[in-house]
Amino acid sequence: MKTQLIKINSSNKNKVLSIAADLIKKGDVVAFPTETVYGLGANALDENAVKKIFVAKGRPNDNPLIVHISNINQLNELVEFVPKKAEILIKKYWPGPLTIVMKKSFKIPMCITGGLNTVAIRMPSDNNALELIKKSGCPIAAPSANSSTKPSPTMAKHVMNDLNGKIPLIIDGGKCKVGLESTVIGLSNDKAILFRPGKITKEEIGRLIGKVDLPCEQSKIPSSPGMKYKHYSPKAKITLVEAKINTNKKGTDFLNVVKKFSLNESNDLIGIISFTKRVGFENEFFFNKSVNLYAKNLFFVLREFDKRGLKKIIVEGVNDNGFGLALMNRLRKASSKII
Ligand code: TXA
Ligand code: MG
Repeated sequence: MKTQLIKINSSNKNKVLSIAADLIKKGDVVAFPTETVYGLGANALDENAVKKIFVAKGRPNDNPLIVHISNINQLNELVEFVPKKAEILIKKYWPGPLTIVMKKSFKIPMCITGGLNTVAIRMPSDNNALELIKKSGCPIAAPSANSSTKPSPTMAKHVMNDLNGKIPLIIDGGKCKVGLESTVIGLSNDKAILFRPGKITKEEIGRLIGKVDLPCEQSKIPSSPGMKYKHYSPKAKITLVEAKINTNKKGTDFLNVVKKFSLNESNDLIGIISFTKRVGFENEFFFNKSVNLYAKNLFFVLREFDKRGLKKIIVEGVNDNGFGLALMNRLRKASSKII
């Protein structure tokens, strides 16, 4: 299959989105930008179309997909009911990078939920994504548009690298603003569970709806299947140095660790991601204490280091609160060693 990559701009927007919507309507898949990461979308109510997503990504069947909507009226037919806490969050954060898991209605095919009786729903804020859903006339199921286990794509060329020849169309809407996947919050039960941290933080959600648990604090409730899979792994081995504030450990100064780990290695084969101070290596990305900038560029940097053929990546962690929790969640999953 030939994969078309089309740059979208204000003058061709209508035409490009119509081409994409026609593909979705006829049961095909399309990669499109959202404010978080690029998604690989198909008609959520068409089982055969949804199956094409799993095939293109090489995704395990029991890892459920997020259903994207453009209009609040679409929600009622996709869930059994909308809990009060969900209503509060929707009012504040939709459209935006927050996914809410609720009891599914009979309309949602089982292949979307991986056999669960709940469904994850989100209304993206990216304008092209919203328009595409509108034009397609159906809710769109979409995981991140990477090959399974690769870092999520934050640029169209990342999608091309992973899925060239496997899907008909990629819409290039530039670099994603947030750079990490949406927050996923479970509200199908009385308790709110943070399945995946993201831009909308645990603290912000807690202030609106009360206590938010982490999945490990909820042994009886089925957790989010996505959590059991290895994620975000580039080819090089990543060593993560936790921020001192998270560990209370002494002697884990980032510069010292870099020195120790680079002793017997040629420095041009080592990638560095620094946060508080620049180390001065050739392959280094420095984020100068900005968690937002770090998050926006993390997946791009991991892919870039792979392209450069680096052997080792040494990464400076950040404090675990606010948006930092999401960044650390992705970094810990990607790392083979944590110090
Ligand atoms: O930002 C995003 O959420 C992006 C863009 C494209 O919208 N999408 C995305 O989808 O990250 P994906 O498939 O890569 O991640 C979906 C996550 C997985 O961790 C999955 O386990 C969880 O949502 N999930 C989906 N349905 C669920 C359910 N019913 N219960 C618990 N977790 C669920
Ligand atoms: Mg994903």
